Amino acid sequence: MKSGSSSVRDIKIEPMTLKDLDRVLEIESRSYGNPWSRGAFVCELTDNTYAHYYVAKLDDLIVGYVGMWVILEEAHITNIAVDPDYRRMGIGQHMLETMFEKAREFGATRMTLEVRVSNVTAQNLYKKLGFAERGIRKGYYTDTNEDAIIMWKDDLGPQKPEAERIKWMV
Ligand SMILES: CC(C)(COP(=O)(O)OP(=O)(O)OC[C@H]1O[C@@H](n2cnc3c(N)ncnc32)[C@H](O)[C@@H]1OP(=O)(O)O)[C@@H](O)C(=O)NCCC(=O)NCCS
Repeated sequence: MKSGSSSVRDIKIEPMTLKDLDRVLEIESRSYGNPWSRGAFVCELTDNTYAHYYVAKLDDLIVGYVGMWVILEEAHITNIAVDPDYRRMGIGQHMLETMFEKAREFGATRMTLEVRVSNVTAQNLYKKLGFAERGIRKGYYTDTNEDAIIMWKDDLGPQKPEAERIKWMV
């Protein structure tokens, strides 16, 4: 890892706050040709009750982030990115595995996402973690008219007992 002896065990996953957005937007613009705007993140953090966003911190530096919507038993990954300087170190995998756990706590049993046909890197990550291709959304990405592969992971593991879930959902 860039900071010498650090490992993925040193990564802390914390809820994203508005204060994190300068750094999140920096990573977002280095990660995507068509990055989300600040307004899009603000809306997710303040207006969308289904949305759950987290940052991955190494020491105090945000090195990645991930977001999902949880609606009843389905979790939908909406965004995931790792700072290019910290990629290929297990952070993306660690963030997603943490989302499996959190999605279960919120009551989800399965998880879905869309990925660009050309984004083989991300597809490898998702396949490694048990996602399978289930379909194509033609021209889903309006910037380039690229198709999206729809992926699903059917088994997020056992759900928490009802009482535990309710405690997490309040
Ligand atoms: C996709 C992304 C989040 C992966 O994050 P990461 O922290 O670098 O990934 P990890 O180190 O956890 O890698 C886990 C697995 O993903 C796959 N993977 C990651 N980077 C890869 C690469 N450059 N080439 C091929 N496979 C890769 C591998 O299967 C890897 O497992 P392995 O190390 O045992 O081979 C990161 O590349 C990124 O931010 N990309 C830009 C944004 C993006 O495309 N997001 C997804 C939108 S759908």
